[in-house]
Amino acid sequence: MTVFASVQAPSEEGYLSTIRSIRETVGRTPLAHIETVNDTRIFAKLEYFNPFSHSVKDRTAAYMLTGPLEKREVDPGRDTIWIEASSGNLGIAYGKIGRLLGLKTMVVAPSIVGDVTFRRIRSTTTFSEITPGGYCPRGERDGAIKKVMDTWVSQPEKFVWRDQYSNEDNITAHEETTGPEIWKQTKGRITTLVAATGTGGTIIGCGLYLKEQDPRIEIVGVQPQVKHHIQGVRNYEESLKPLLLTQNEDLIDEWIEIDDKEAFDATKLLWRKGFPVGTSSGLNYVASRKIARRRRGTEVVTLFPDAFTNSFKIMQNYLTTGRIEDSKTEETKTQPL
Ligand SMILES: Cc1ncc(COP(=O)(O)O)c(C=O)c1O
Repeated sequence: MTVFASVQAPSEEGYLSTIRSIRETVGRTPLAHIETVNDTRIFAKLEYFNPFSHSVKDRTAAYMLTGPLEKREVDPGRDTIWIEASSGNLGIAYGKIGRLLGLKTMVVAPSIVGDVTFRRIRSTTTFSEITPGGYCPRGERDGAIKKVMDTWVSQPEKFVWRDQYSNEDNITAHEETTGPEIWKQTKGRITTLVAATGTGGTIIGCGLYLKEQDPRIEIVGVQPQVKHHIQGVRNYEESLKPLLLTQNEDLIDEWIEIDDKEAFDATKLLWRKGFPVGTSSGLNYVASRKIARRRRGTEVVTLFPDAFTNSFKIMQNYLTTGRIEDSKTEETKTQPL
């Protein structure tokens, strides 16, 4: 069992041991065999086993927060606020891990996140705020990212903005943890990785590691439809591609697009099979089945990126009315600076 050293550990050694404990606690998630289609086995990395946000974003948050502290680039004792834009999971992980490290965090989320997710963000971060915005903002020009950028620019000495959309630590987290775990858990038998993208950190980090082990491994990116309702993922016709993706574009062999209804139906099926996942897992699952049907006798690995919590309301509504629609966020701001 992991033991966290004193949160506000006064000693250097205590602080480094907290950093190590956080890194050790995140990741090492199970790989589950979901089904066999066309003689191809489909496996999923169950990222909801991550302890802080119950999502893959624990990995990114852990690396983005501990990286500069470990390298002594930021003094943990300073009265700095670590600010980030997030549609949910990264914000929750940032807040919780930040607390363990004795840091102040501020997360700005788009209004699309809904009450449940905002409450989760609010309860973990030091400051939180909602700005108008959808699932696919156009980069720094609108919504939460613009708000974060403006806040940081106005007082750069007060805020640390690591920017998950362009930060190398986001890729490193997956290159050093998720990728090697998949390689080890499949005993090197993986032929295809199928993954939806938000910042691109997961697919690029895993892709870099896996292609280095075996360049024949295919990397398939999954996109939701235009005007989709799936938290954490993006369609790049609507949304600007993040830097992490544009800089590593050639790593992705193919893109596949899935519509919301297919993803929501697949999420329901996964619930029936006993996987308490969010709608992006349904998205990845449908895409993996489509790829498996085209690749006989291969071994497909995907991710179930998060738990059902953030998607529960929209799924509940879908299951009772058959309609896919967002619920409103009533609160807009807490603890203003
Ligand atoms: C809920 C959620 N968060 C994040 C991601 C992907 O993260 P990223 O591309 O930012 O690594 C996914 C991808 O499916 C997701 O479903």
